[in-house]
Amino acid sequence: MSEQTIALVTGANKGIGYEIAAALGGLGWRVGIGARDDQRREAAVAKLRAGGADAFGVPLDVTDDAGVTAAAALIDQQAGRLDVLVNNAGVTGGMPQEPTAVAPATVRVAVETNVIGVIRVTNAMLPLLRRSAAPRIVNMSSSVGSLTRQTDPHGETGPISAAYAASKTFLNAVTVQYAKELHDTPILINAACPGYTATDLNGFRGVRTPEQGAAIAVRLATLPDDGPTGGFFEDAGVVPW
Ligand SMILES: NC(=O)c1ccc[n+]([C@@H]2O[C@H](COP(=O)([O-])OP(=O)(O)OC[C@H]3O[C@@H](n4cnc5c(N)ncnc54)[C@H](OP(=O)(O)O)[C@@H]3O)[C@@H](O)[C@H]2O)c1
Repeated sequence: MSEQTIALVTGANKGIGYEIAAALGGLGWRVGIGARDDQRREAAVAKLRAGGADAFGVPLDVTDDAGVTAAAALIDQQAGRLDVLVNNAGVTGGMPQEPTAVAPATVRVAVETNVIGVIRVTNAMLPLLRRSAAPRIVNMSSSVGSLTRQTDPHGETGPISAAYAASKTFLNAVTVQYAKELHDTPILINAACPGYTATDLNGFRGVRTPEQGAAIAVRLATLPDDGPTGGFFEDAGVVPW
């Protein structure tokens, strides 16, 4: 089996996911570009390869059971194992998000992609991750999912949100449960907050660049064997739950 580290980044065709893939490719890793749209995926793969990265396309809609199973089969065939999974794909679910006005469908879309999608992809990739000597899983969360920050009267909480923010709280809880179940394995699983980053997700209103937003995921993807698991981190350190 290849000595090269093998990674999969979901939602890697643009935004923070693209920059995570570029940074991991820059480390000499082989990087699967998980993306649901064929054209956007192939354009990203071509751009990353032109920049010197060993990137390959992985058709992947995180909400699609059969598609996710097929993605795992493709990685098995291409690489035989997976060392690092970055669950980056995410959506707001739409607007409005105020709890008194939100449509149930908006909540469902956010949870289906941001939480169930992560569980679906993680579980499909686990057999491949278990073949790695040092598996790492990074779940792209958000500090808006921090209940401590949401209830801090002086905190930066983002807009009132019963869908997106709550889905990230849910994702944090799921991350902790994975860490508990996998505590006696070499798998390290953590949640990351990229900070408020200028991407399509927020109409490019974020104040950080996608490269800056990618940095914490890269750090958690490259943790040493004695690194943390079941934690929530941003560039500045631990994010409170
Ligand atoms: N930007 C911020 O300020 C910020 C802050 C905190 C956390 N985050 C988190 O960071 C992650 C990346 O967001 P971003 O800001 O880079 O947003 P983005 O530019 O909108 O990128 C989101 C990515 O997720 C993909 N995606 C969405 N639904 C998918 C699905 N069902 N299957 C596969 N891929 C799917 C999108 O693909 P398409 O191109 O096909 O739509 C796109 O590649 C998200 O989890 C987000 O919640 C972002």
